[in-house]
Amino acid sequence: MRMPPAKSLRLYATLMIVPVTALSVSVMIPGQGQRVLAHGPLLEKHDGLACSTCHLRALGSTRQQIQAELRHMVGLRQTPVDFGYQPVRSDQCLHCHARANERHPIYRFQEPRFRQALTEVAATSCLGCHSEHGDVKIHSGSTFCSVCHDGLALKSDPLDVSHVTLIRESLWDSCMGCHDFHGNHGHNTPDRIENALPIQEVQAYLRGGHDPYGGFKYYRGATP
Ligand code: HEC
Ligand code: HEC
Ligand code: HEC
Ligand code: HEC
Ligand code: HEC
Repeated sequence: MRMPPAKSLRLYATLMIVPVTALSVSVMIPGQGQRVLAHGPLLEKHDGLACSTCHLRALGSTRQQIQAELRHMVGLRQTPVDFGYQPVRSDQCLHCHARANERHPIYRFQEPRFRQALTEVAATSCLGCHSEHGDVKIHSGSTFCSVCHDGLALKSDPLDVSHVTLIRESLWDSCMGCHDFHGNHGHNTPDRIENALPIQEVQAYLRGGHDPYGGFKYYRGATP
């Protein structure tokens, strides 16, 4: 076959830029590609984030995914494949929420001494406590501190009602009245029970309400 002259090849390439660009733009415009996946709404503070910041495409082409899935169905492959998209992982969250002073970093709970605790609270994953499209923002509840802090005793306790007493009385609801979980809010930790936040306010925050710890944060999520 005779090669087309360089000039018409250039023309062809230039013409192709139009449909190819249009196609990739339509995939990237939020609201267009996003509609394909429609699900519950995002967290209010995540409004405007592109779906693809959390939902990464599964590895391999669609054809490879189908082939691997068929092999799995007939027993030739041990594990199923991620279809279309990978499951959301903590790595995606940490991409925007990594903090140097994290009080409860998820990697710490890989240590064997937390094995029992992990059967009660999935603290090695952000999604063990956080939801994105669900009815509640944070589904851990407010009493899970008990799982790891049951034996807590401070050398010199500054509280008017000591930690030992709070724990003996199983007042696990009280903890988040004074402490946030991640240590990211720069609020002063009260030392009198009467100055603790009412538990209803904390629970409303966990469900999706406003932040009761004063609004200041050492770290804020990165904006793309
Ligand atoms: C901040 C991270 C984040 C963003 C942004 C996000 N999602 Fe999700 N999405 C999740 C998480 C986490 C789950 C797992 C279940 C849950 O928590 O609801 C999920 C689950 C889903 C599911 C259910 C499928 C499954 O694998 O469980 C669909 C569908 C979905 N998201 C669609 C979307 C669409 C559409 C957008 C963009 C409008 C979007 N998501 C943006 C984090 C996110
Ligand atoms: C064991 C449960 C648990 C795990 C695991 C967990 N969180 Fe949280 N998270 C909470 C609770 C409870 C709150 C509300 C109290 C507070 O604001 O600290 C919260 C609040 C937050 C907030 C809002 C307040 C702030 O610090 O800015 C962000 C952001 C957050 N979590 C991100 C993450 C990310 C990212 C991960 C994973 C690396 C994660 N969380 C893992 C329980 C958890
Ligand atoms: C999965 C286990 C686990 C859970 C659940 C947990 N913690 Fe902790 N917490 C730890 C560990 C481990 C440390 C670090 C202690 C150390 O370094 O000796 C810690 C430290 C702390 C500290 C001291 C931080 C500092 O910088 O001195 C506070 C306050 C605290 N936790 C409060 C809470 C509260 C409130 C809850 C519940 C909302 C909670 N924790 C839930 C394991 C846990
Ligand atoms: C009235 C407020 C208040 C309540 C309620 C409260 N704490 Fe504290 N907590 C403090 C103060 C103040 C300190 C010491 C200063 C600091 O670490 O911020 C402290 C310290 C701690 C520490 C650090 C201990 C150390 O050795 O440094 C842990 C862990 C802790 N609290 C966990 C809890 C748990 C778990 C609960 C729920 C049973 C709880 N706290 C309830 C105010 C409170
Ligand atoms: C593209 C960046 C980005 C990603 C990815 C991301 N976030 Fe955020 N997130 C933000 C920003 C920006 C805010 C608002 C500022 C702030 O409060 O830190 C925020 C706020 C939050 C809040 C506070 C909500 C409130 O009402 O106070 C929580 C909880 C949270 N993110 C959890 C997560 C979890 C869990 C994931 C992973 C599934 C995640 N984020 C992934 C950027 C991101």
